[in-house]
Amino acid sequence: MGMADYDDQEFEYIFKTILIGDSAVGKSNLLSRFVWDRFRLDSRPTIGVEFAYWNTQVGDKLVKTQIWDTAGQERFRAFTSSYYRGAMGALLVYDITQRTSFNNLEKWLREIREYGDSDMVIMLVGNKTDMCHAREVSEEEGQRLAENEGLCFMETSALESFNVEEAFLQLIFQIYEVTSKKKLDAKSSQAQTITPTTGKKILHLDEVSADQNQHMGCCWR
Ligand code: GTP
Ligand code: MG
Repeated sequence: MGMADYDDQEFEYIFKTILIGDSAVGKSNLLSRFVWDRFRLDSRPTIGVEFAYWNTQVGDKLVKTQIWDTAGQERFRAFTSSYYRGAMGALLVYDITQRTSFNNLEKWLREIREYGDSDMVIMLVGNKTDMCHAREVSEEEGQRLAENEGLCFMETSALESFNVEEAFLQLIFQIYEVTSKKKLDAKSSQAQTITPTTGKKILHLDEVSADQNQHMGCCWR
């Protein structure tokens, strides 16, 4: 039986995450590289919304991450508010070889703040590091913006499989931290009234393998 056959009830955690950023920055290829280890040089612009699930075992617990991929092009976008609803994390992607995609981050951050949850984890991703000869945005600029806006930051290449897994895993672990802190806060303020209606338990970070943990140092929050 594959992971896809598991009933949602068997997962300790289900996280919704979304991909945002200008068209052609590589959102769909980051997703397909992460989930299926596939890359397409001739990929088409996304129309509407596509989904993927990524299941992982952490210790003896199952974690399911839903990843939503939408169109960067305005005319292909739909239902912006439902896209953001319930999202606990976002990969906000720009293309290091397209200055406009970096300049437009301001617009995307406004949208995130309008529709997204206030404690949504945001990972800023500068994609296409394999095209360093055509670089228009330095790593320092990306880093500085992330620092100013309180975002995580990473540069990636979907083509070369560079930092792709790291970016998604980092996002997932940051969501875990926010989620578990929220549960702790709720517990201390209303110790008697809290009941585990979803049947989900908290997983412990020390159960995460050392290899996955080593990428946790990049955040500015
Ligand atoms: P929309 O769906 O329109 O919003 O675009 P998108 O952000 O999903 O971009 P997509 O993944 O479709 O990639 C756009 C183009 O960039 C394609 O030709 C990809 O092959 C290319 N591309 C994506 N990632 C990389 C990368 O890391 N390096 C290089 N060199 N090209 C990439
Ligand atoms: Mg796409």
